[in-house]
Amino acid sequence: MKNYERAENCITPCYVFDESEMKRRITTIRESLPDGVVLCFAMKANPFVIKAACDEAELLEVCSEGEYRICRHNGISNDRLTISGINKDPEHMRELVSSPEPIHRFTVESATQFALLKSLAHEFDTIVPALFRITSGNQFGMDAALARRLIAQSRGDAHIDFRGIQFFSGTQKSSPSRIVRELSKVDALIDTIREECGVKIRELEYGPGLPVDYGETDETARAARDGEFLATLHDALAALRFDGTVILEMGRAMAASCGTYLTTVVDVKENRGHSFAIIDGGKHQISYYGHELALTPPACRAVPAHDNPDGTVWTVCGSLCTANDILIKQFDASALEIGDRLVFPNAGAYCMTEGISLFLSRDLPRVYLVDGAGTMALVRDRIETARLNTCQEQNA
Ligand SMILES: Cc1ncc(COP(=O)(O)O)c(C=O)c1O
Repeated sequence: MKNYERAENCITPCYVFDESEMKRRITTIRESLPDGVVLCFAMKANPFVIKAACDEAELLEVCSEGEYRICRHNGISNDRLTISGINKDPEHMRELVSSPEPIHRFTVESATQFALLKSLAHEFDTIVPALFRITSGNQFGMDAALARRLIAQSRGDAHIDFRGIQFFSGTQKSSPSRIVRELSKVDALIDTIREECGVKIRELEYGPGLPVDYGETDETARAARDGEFLATLHDALAALRFDGTVILEMGRAMAASCGTYLTTVVDVKENRGHSFAIIDGGKHQISYYGHELALTPPACRAVPAHDNPDGTVWTVCGSLCTANDILIKQFDASALEIGDRLVFPNAGAYCMTEGISLFLSRDLPRVYLVDGAGTMALVRDRIETARLNTCQEQNA
């Protein structure tokens, strides 16, 4: 049993993020890829582990002013940050472009963003290092034709340092061959930009969208699938004609395995012949692909595990006042009792930040970090959300 699974060591509901697992995972990814690939952690996946990420990965991808502030609070310097995102607040960009500590890269997602960055660079007489994001057909980035026009324009502008392109089409890729197809198209686009715009692309920032199987309980099967994706990514990168720097931006593939979500069973009952276990957390606190209506049951363990001689199958429900708050529909791994803990692995990415955490005004869970020596520290206490869900004058 892990230290944090013991009731005396942490109060549920909570997340526990293991920094050494985060580092181990990034090291595994690096070792699986061709030499020279630069790694960038998309911090939206988990802002609590950015320090551990920065020990192993070169860069962080930052998509909002809030994320930027978190980096600053953690002492992470601007030269480790790629400033990304479709809504770049002009005042925030002003702060960043005029900063004496230069930002590593800015992505450009539209003609409007290009105009903003250009005008700020001129105003402060500085140089903005830019990556143009190419769309995959959704609201992100821009058409390749527009990118080519803007890249050609930036050629004559001493204030724009055109570094290259960014491409991310989506997360949870279902097949490794999709990565091969995407990289081959990006490679062709790089050739076209060089030929048409007369500029050399020095950097390709690519998000492979590697999948994490939240339902898989067999570690060998999980590792085999992961290995297949990483090997394909390796070969596709090695086959590129592009000979500049490849930066891989990833969120869940780096962070998922470092996290555990812990809850406690607070009630058990049988309603019309069905066994229900009510836990002190809920789906507002653990969000992962395929969890809607518990269609994809997540991996989960009960601690302690009791014999289940009757073969009772549980519906595990959270604390929200909605019939939708079901985490697992057919949990039969253990008999459940009030006070048992349910341990959800692979909760290190998005689970915490994507949930509907304000619903029902329940508290935000505690967060614990585990360091390399296995020491646990409470790094965020429970936060009351009642104050956020009421008129401001009532909080005064
Ligand atoms: C631009 C960009 N890059 C990378 C990522 C990380 O994706 P993943 O968690 O699939 O690695 C995201 C996630 O939304 C993203 O928007």
